[in-house]
Amino acid sequence: MWLSNSSVGRKFVMALTGAFLVLFVTFHCLMNSIAIVWPVAYNSVCEFLGANWYALAASAVLAVFILIHIFYAVMLTVQNRRARGADRYAVVRKPKTVEWSSQNMFVLGIVILAFFVVHLIQFWAKMQLAEIAGTEGVIPPAAGTLFLQEAFSLIWTPIVYIIGFIAIWFHMNHGFWSMFQSIGWDNTVWIPRLKKISCWWSTIVILLFVAQAIVFTINAKNDFYKKNPALRDQYKEMLVPMIEKDFGPDAIQVTQAFKMMPFEQLSPAVKQQSEQMKQQLNDPQAKAYFESQPGGKEQFEKMQKQAEMWNKMAGFFNYLEEGDEASANVMPAQPNR
Ligand code: HEM
Repeated sequence: MWLSNSSVGRKFVMALTGAFLVLFVTFHCLMNSIAIVWPVAYNSVCEFLGANWYALAASAVLAVFILIHIFYAVMLTVQNRRARGADRYAVVRKPKTVEWSSQNMFVLGIVILAFFVVHLIQFWAKMQLAEIAGTEGVIPPAAGTLFLQEAFSLIWTPIVYIIGFIAIWFHMNHGFWSMFQSIGWDNTVWIPRLKKISCWWSTIVILLFVAQAIVFTINAKNDFYKKNPALRDQYKEMLVPMIEKDFGPDAIQVTQAFKMMPFEQLSPAVKQQSEQMKQQLNDPQAKAYFESQPGGKEQFEKMQKQAEMWNKMAGFFNYLEEGDEASANVMPAQPNR
């Protein structure tokens, strides 16, 4: 097949998948920018891009493009090395016009891949993947701002991200214009223009990413994403679908309370309910009573499941309130929205 057998075909595939990835990175960068100006809206976007069929389909297409891009990059690199044979060990003087990034696209790709693995473990695995696999932790998968909190409160995260961004800048800056060359748009008028466009495009995208990493780190240090009142109200509502799933027809009363009560009132109420359920279940008399009743065993098991649920919710409220007193005087770096 021409696309995989010929060098031109392979370069064409690299250009096509590369163009798609440039668009994805640009879109992703714009989406993240929402978290700077309006964190509540960012979480709504995360919810929309959760385990819904359209988001899963988009993620699957993205994964295929990334894998093809990597596979063809390896093929082209191996092919180039074979073509150069023993010469690749000879000391060669590279022409001045050959950019550093063009010589190092493969190495830059590996640095990006390493960043990428860390990034997917920190976010995607705990959000979309956890939602599909049913392995959610204390934090609801749609609470994107809390995953920002978790990731950017680690000292090494901004460092790893900045290294990743620098590699992406070089890779994208070169890849952007050279993909036009690969599809045959190789003329002396347009290539210099495309080089300028690609430099501007990559620089704007990467500067935005850097700004995001700085803002997220400052906010995470101040526990802003845990403490902001508007976000707290949004987080408590994120528990509603979870309650509906686990409580079945009994859910309505609980979900009403979650929707109506402000966070400060709901939090102690949930913790109290969790404690009460625990005490009830640990009472040997209550257990004996349920076992003596017809259908009592099933009812007891149902109560156990509900107690687990209350315990999980109480754990979430505890997590959000962890540092409340310690940093009561810290002003958030964001306006409340
Ligand atoms: C400050 C920088 C970044 C932040 C805060 C960030 C945040 C996120 C979040 C929250 C998700 C999970 C979305 C979900 O599953 O609903 C995600 C997924 C992802 N991110 Fe990033 N990201 C950043 C930079 C990047 C960069 C530079 C790249 C590309 C090189 C990238 C590639 C991806 C990919 C491929 C996914 C999986 C998307 C999917 O499966 O739909 N991210 N990111």
